[in-house]
Amino acid sequence: MHCVRKVNESLTWVGADDRKIHIFEGIYPLKRGMSYNSYLLKDEKTVLLDTVDKACLETFLENVEFALAGRKLDYVIVHHMEPDHSSTLKTLLDYHKEATIVCNQKILNMIHQFFGKDLDAKVHLVNEGDTLNVGEHTFTFVNAPMVHWPEVMMSYEMKDKILFSADAFGTFGALNGHLFNDEVDFFNDYLDEARRYYTNIVGKYGPQVQAVLKKASGLDIKLICPLHGFVWRNDFAKIIEKYNLWSTYTPEEKGVLIAYSSVYGHTENAMNILACQLVKRGVKVDVYDLSLTDVSVVVSNAFKYSHIVLGSTTYNMGIFLLMHNLLHDLQAHNLSSRTIAIVENGSWAPQAGKLMKEEVNKMKNMTILEEDVTIKSSVDEDSYLKLIALADAIKKSLE
Ligand code: FEO
Repeated sequence: MHCVRKVNESLTWVGADDRKIHIFEGIYPLKRGMSYNSYLLKDEKTVLLDTVDKACLETFLENVEFALAGRKLDYVIVHHMEPDHSSTLKTLLDYHKEATIVCNQKILNMIHQFFGKDLDAKVHLVNEGDTLNVGEHTFTFVNAPMVHWPEVMMSYEMKDKILFSADAFGTFGALNGHLFNDEVDFFNDYLDEARRYYTNIVGKYGPQVQAVLKKASGLDIKLICPLHGFVWRNDFAKIIEKYNLWSTYTPEEKGVLIAYSSVYGHTENAMNILACQLVKRGVKVDVYDLSLTDVSVVVSNAFKYSHIVLGSTTYNMGIFLLMHNLLHDLQAHNLSSRTIAIVENGSWAPQAGKLMKEEVNKMKNMTILEEDVTIKSSVDEDSYLKLIALADAIKKSLE
């Protein structure tokens, strides 16, 4: 049975929730599912904006048929060819052979790669600035390369002033019956997952996100309809401010992310001592054990905080694998402009500290505090005092 919601008089959400999915894009764990948004506009012509993941095909087709209410489908605007939004496109067009695909050339190239060239006769190519009039409503198109793939475009509907923003302004998590951002307590309950979604999926492409934000700043926007998560109908400034911070690699908060890997608990003990000393000095602290926390959560918090403490045991004369993976992930997402502190452990030949510094130095504009700490097996009097000195140095650098 259909499950749709009206965005406004002309526009209906015809997407779907998938709560059975545990891993998104083969790598990101999901605790609360995922939403795939698709929208149907009814005017003199009917326009479907994107499709959904193949896991939701049946629900999606039912929703589209219900929302069309017997009308034919005139256009399908494709903004992004990643399969979470396009894997049902060909099947949809099997049911709606009359529909014309509206997309740019790069999207068409990817249609060829995913589906072959059978759909070519149905394609209407557009580029930035082109318009598509469908009655009272008119769409114009904005290219948004690398937000999140190179072919991505956004569209802006001029009558109702709606930005269809592709992956931008999305979040992990199912909608659970909610459609609009103000139907949930977004900044308390969803911001962490929106940040984890943005930083891990688009975080590498800050300059490209900045370019699109600049283009969008010239538009009068009443609604933002993303491909995941809630439709934004207020609080634009608050979420755009977050996107500005994340895409310029500017910390949201002065505070310390402590991330560590510990084999027998002694590096963990050092991190607990440091956390206590920092909190006693009035510093905000967030602590993650890399053995227990998915790296995407730690990457997200590295974007959030101004300071990062990295603690690792030495392992096979290198950095412990989980810490190495974190550093590689931070590099891959172009994290920059943070203050870093290093704590290493090694029972006979501590090496992790030197190697972690080398990895940090591959990132832009990183400041490594001089007060690093070496532990030999377990925290002793000398390393305890060094942890105190590190807490003082972090506190000073936050002032
Ligand atoms: Fe939600 Fe880049 O796909």
